[in-house]
This record gives sequence, structure tokens and C-alpha cells, in this order.
Amino acid sequence: MPLLSVRMRASLEGRHVSGAERIVTEGKLQDTVLELLKRPRRFDNIVLTVERLVSVDRLETSLPVTSKTLKSVKEARDLALDLLVRSGIPREIGLKAIDLLSKGPSPSGGVMRGAVVMDVESGERLEPDMYRGVRTVRVDWEDRDRVREEIVRAGYTERTLDALAIATKNAYCGALAEICWSDDPDYVTGYVASPQIGYVRITPLKERGDPIGGRVYFIRREDLEGFVECVERRALIIKSWR
Ligand code: COA
Ligand code: AMP
Repeated sequence: MPLLSVRMRASLEGRHVSGAERIVTEGKLQDTVLELLKRPRRFDNIVLTVERLVSVDRLETSLPVTSKTLKSVKEARDLALDLLVRSGIPREIGLKAIDLLSKGPSPSGGVMRGAVVMDVESGERLEPDMYRGVRTVRVDWEDRDRVREEIVRAGYTERTLDALAIATKNAYCGALAEICWSDDPDYVTGYVASPQIGYVRITPLKERGDPIGGRVYFIRREDLEGFVECVERRALIIKSWR
């Protein structure tokens, strides 16, 4: 059955404030557009993109999810570093990524519009534009409503639904590991993900009120072109989560 990528982004006073995407059949297009249009609470511009997908990859299951709550940001970041090391990332490179996210990964010290791509051997940043970064798009769940219900019943949030899809696609595209925490000042849970450790939610990866966050994807330098093409262009549907 032909599938469509439906993407919404909203801005307020020139600043990106909301983004969401779905991959759906044509029969679900109208409901999906209405649902996405309701998401931004405040905006002065909404852009909706509907695109017919020529080919879609399918994946049986997501990375497996676990959750850890620590007493302090320091302990949480120490755990994040250990998990990166267990994923094969050299300790000093993992530390460099955590340091970058805590200071603000854009060259101006603020947040980026996408993810840092880091060479696992040298720690060098490989993304062509250090203000933009690389964005993982064209990924969704086969039956989003069912997976959302299951994930919420397991005690997680809709954010986990979307972030798990992104992290699973990154691993599928060849990311060796990933670390993320949000730039939302009220959301202090982040994660480390890799094929070795799965998707590990970690609270609190930053202090409440801190507006800085971001993502770092670790890859091998020689994989850069194929990796970016895969995360940004290839479409992926994930069937179930675990
Ligand atoms: N952050 C900041 N700016 C963004 C953005 C984001 N996530 N996504 C889009 N923009 C803005 C940028 O200015 C961008 O220009 P750039 O390419 O020079 O950076 C412009 O919009 C056009 O972006 P484009 O890539 O063409 O957008 P798109 O129509 O393909 O939509 C989204 C991409 C919005 C669907 C995607 O970025 C997104 O937000 N996906 C959902 C992620 C999610 O679920 N997150 C929550 C859990 S982690
Ligand atoms: P969020 O978890 O949505 O707060 O996003 C945290 C950070 O991840 C943002 O500041 C961006 O730098 C980056 N980001 C947001 N969306 C994407 C995406 N689709 N792919 C890669 N990086 C993203």
C-alpha cells in the first residue's frame, strides 16, 4: 500500500517551537493532518509537508527500553558515560560529547536544529553545518496508536514513543551510539542508546530550568555520507517496541 510522509513544523517569532511527523496510508491523511495541526499551542507560522514515499524499509522491533533514576545530575551523567563506554565509545570521546551538550553544542553556545555527528575515534565533529546538525526524519510506528498505548501503560510518555523511534532509526542507519537530553527546561530525562545497551532512559541528565540540550550521534568517519543519507532521507516503519 502506498505510504505518505506527513510532517509539521511550527515557528513563533522566527523560532522553531513544534515539530512532529507520521508515516500513514492515504486513508489516514485527513485525520493525521488535523491531529498534527492541533499540536502547536502558540505559533505564527505552520508548515505542513505531505510527500509520497517511493520505498519504505521495515524493522521488526525497536531497541529495548529500560529506565534509570539517579540521585543527581552528576550520577546520571556518570552512568551515561559508562553506558557509552559499554557501547564501544572511548571514555574521553564520551566525555567530550557530554561536555558539549552541557555547554550548548552550537558554535554560539546555544542549541542546534539537529544532532552533532561525532567521529568515534577522534571526537571530531563531522556534521557539515554545526548550527544545523543532522536530523533524523521519515520514521514512524506501523501501528502508532497501539504502541503509544503500550508505552504509556508501561509508565513512559509520548516523548519516549518519538525519541525511541528516532534512536532505533539511528542504530538501523549505523550509529554506534547516541546520547540525548532535551532543550526543554522542564524535561530532565534523557537517554543513551546503542545496539549493545538498548535505549536507556536516564533521569535527571540536567538540572530543571536548564534550556540547553541536544543530541550526539557517534559514527565511524568513513560511514558519514551513507549515515546522513539514511537518517535524513530513507523512510523506516518500526513494527513493535520492547
Ligand atoms: N528543530 C529546529 N528547527 C527545525 C527543526 C527542529 N527539529 N525541524 C525543522 N526545523 C526548521 C529549520 O529552520 C529547518 O531549516 P534547516 O534545514 O536549515 O535547519 C526548516 O525548519 C525546514 O526543515 P525540514 O527538515 O525541511 O523540516 P521537515 O518539514 O522535514 O520537518 C520535522 C522536520 C519538524 C518533522 C522534524 O524536525 C521533527 O521535529 N520531527 C519530530 C521529532 C520528535 O518527535 N521529537 C520529539 C521527541 S525527541
Ligand atoms: P528534543 O528532545 O526534541 O528537545 O530535542 C533535543 C535536541 O535534539 C534539539 O535541541 C536538537 O538539537 C536535536 N533534535 C531535535 N529534533 C531532532 C531530530 N529529528 N533529529 C536529530 N536531532 C534532533
